[in-house]
Amino acid sequence: MGKRSPLMNVMVSSVMKVTRLLRRDFNEVEKLQVSRKGPADFVTTADRRVEKELVMELKQARPEFGFLLEEHGEYKGEGDSRFIIDPIDGTTNFLHSIPHFAVSVAVETRGELVAGLIYAPLTEELFWAEKGVGAYLNDARIRVAGRERLDDALLATGIPFKGKDGHERFLAEAKEVTENVAGLRRFGAASLDLAYVAAGRFDGFWESGLNPWDMAAGIVIVREAGGYVTDLNGGQDMLKRGDILVANDRLHAPIQRMLRRAHRTLDAG
Ligand code: IPD
Ligand code: CA
Repeated sequence: MGKRSPLMNVMVSSVMKVTRLLRRDFNEVEKLQVSRKGPADFVTTADRRVEKELVMELKQARPEFGFLLEEHGEYKGEGDSRFIIDPIDGTTNFLHSIPHFAVSVAVETRGELVAGLIYAPLTEELFWAEKGVGAYLNDARIRVAGRERLDDALLATGIPFKGKDGHERFLAEAKEVTENVAGLRRFGAASLDLAYVAAGRFDGFWESGLNPWDMAAGIVIVREAGGYVTDLNGGQDMLKRGDILVANDRLHAPIQRMLRRAHRTLDAG
């Protein structure tokens, strides 16, 4: 069993507390699906409330930390650490009563991601990692899968939707990738896509157009599970660029080559 630091214990207990609300809200959403107005407003309110409660809990335990929040923006702290929070990653799933969503909390210290927690309240799966300590699913150590061949690889991605850029680019990537791998999935929560790579369920994941709170916790968890994490250019600017590619060290380069081939084909028109 992984020994959690006091900071990770605070993160876990705060998240567990607020996800009681989230489970109740999810049951409510299931009822609202049938109404004509639909549950959209309700979910936006739930999202904000969960974030607010989580900030209150974390602030009590770590008053000097800053915050980068999906719903409420950025707050500078007195110290050099901050929490990066996505209260419901997979909001569209939540809205449609699909139980695949998560709360994601990361800690960044002096610009470095040092801890990450992703909790899926409906499946009760808690993925967490701290720098140098390893990655865990609940209490069991997790590692990225050992597959080495693209033919065997199951990959995950995100598909741009209305209001997002990159539709053509995604189609070019998907064509190249699906012709070469065992399968491609779009489950709708980037944090859980990353956690699933860390747990060896997916062999790799890439996506563009992401925000820091979608990826921050997952980056720590994949790294600590032995995975290789870069932006789509092969650098370490994932949070700034908003794109990411993760896999084990054998599959990372072949996946990057497929994506580059797709981009060249697109550019050649
Ligand atoms: C979204 C999910 C999704 C990804 C989107 C994100 P949200 O986050 O992570 O998988 O494809 O780009 O915006 O809006 O559900 O918190
Ligand atoms: Ca998100």
